[in-house]
Amino acid sequence: MKRDGFGSQLGALMALIGSAVGLGNLWKFPYMTGINGGAAFIIIYAGFMFILCLPLMLSEFIIGRRSQSNPVGAFRKIYPKGKWYYTGILGVLGAFIILSFYSVVGGWAFKYFFTALQFGFTDIAGAESQFNQFIQSPFEPIFLHLLFLGITMAILWTGVKNGIEKYSKILMPLLFFMVLILAVYAINLPDAKLGIDFMIRPDWSKVTPSVILNALGQGLFSLSLGMGAVITYSSYMGKTENLTKIAVLTILMDLVFALLAGLVVLPAVFSFGFEPTQGPGLLFIILPEVFASMPGGNLFGIVFFIVLLIAAITSAISLLEVITSYLTEEKKISRHKALIYSGIALLITGSVCSLSMGVLSDILIFGKNIFDFFDMISSTYIMPIGAFFIAVFVGWKMKKKDVKAELSNNGKLKLRTFNLFLFLVRFFVPIAIVVIFLNLLGIF
Ligand code: PFF
Repeated sequence: MKRDGFGSQLGALMALIGSAVGLGNLWKFPYMTGINGGAAFIIIYAGFMFILCLPLMLSEFIIGRRSQSNPVGAFRKIYPKGKWYYTGILGVLGAFIILSFYSVVGGWAFKYFFTALQFGFTDIAGAESQFNQFIQSPFEPIFLHLLFLGITMAILWTGVKNGIEKYSKILMPLLFFMVLILAVYAINLPDAKLGIDFMIRPDWSKVTPSVILNALGQGLFSLSLGMGAVITYSSYMGKTENLTKIAVLTILMDLVFALLAGLVVLPAVFSFGFEPTQGPGLLFIILPEVFASMPGGNLFGIVFFIVLLIAAITSAISLLEVITSYLTEEKKISRHKALIYSGIALLITGSVCSLSMGVLSDILIFGKNIFDFFDMISSTYIMPIGAFFIAVFVGWKMKKKDVKAELSNNGKLKLRTFNLFLFLVRFFVPIAIVVIFLNLLGIF
């Protein structure tokens, strides 16, 4: 049977941007910028996107497109000796863990969207307690998480070309348009200048090693790297696609989305006298308060939560596709069965994550509840470890001529920076990741 795949370069690009742009851009980036001191963090982050994330993304492209296979099969096909395919297994596991809590947060976005539609944002004083009460309750978040998961499964049900590609091509331009409108509105709010200044005037005295390391970690998460998602998507790309061009455009767009999200959230936060250093609650606690006090805040809020939902869904489909492609190709079960089995498993693990905010909050793993533990284990361990092995694999294990052939489409494209690429994947990327990793473990 012919393997499903993307029908065009544009379709592949939209799907990749869809995977990259998600909660990482709209929820994490503004609050990370807030707690890491603003402009200086953004400049460092943008730098890492190109010197660290670009070579990594190209490495995943090389593995995926060359093998035309799921992340586990990809390593087996390219390098059958040894245990390199464990990198793929780690990715599938990581996708499962991330999706378990990601779809719970997706459910929260639904809640806020429905609330905005029904009542608007009015109760300013109780935003924090309302949020806490909601996430701790036993049924509603689980039901909404299931809704989010169901939509993700429905998109994948029809396959790569008729599912992922079709929806990404419609949803991503729509998303861009909506974020742009929100940003234009937000920067015209009174005192928005304070927020913009915070984003463009670097205060280098705020830069500490942890700011640098946060920027690196955020880059990996935001671009879906180290997990097999990019390997999976690139395995659906055609042999004539220009990998370097797609990678550069995906990274640029991801950065643009993050900056626009910053421009939506930060001027609004400053404009209404809140502190940007709130952390994860910035989106769900502070923003509803901002919406309640700004002119046209309800409409703004509705559009904002639609944006958040679309972005989260197009990322979730890439996570679920990692699991689906693994099950169909390695375990030889049909696509629909694979989706149903993983859906049931995710319903259970997601529910456990959700309940760990409330009735199961006494269960602690390394001092964290299950939700936080899943978040930590994926972004602190699985993604950096996966990224490290992917870079080492392409830099040291694959044949140089194969790497070159893949990047240049068998010599058809000129490669001006091949040696720089090789240097980055062989030395810079693995060393930088080891440094982040040791720091996250508290060894530095
Ligand atoms: N890049 C997504 C975001 O920024 O929200 C999250 C993500 C998707 C991470 C897919 C990893 C992944 F494989």
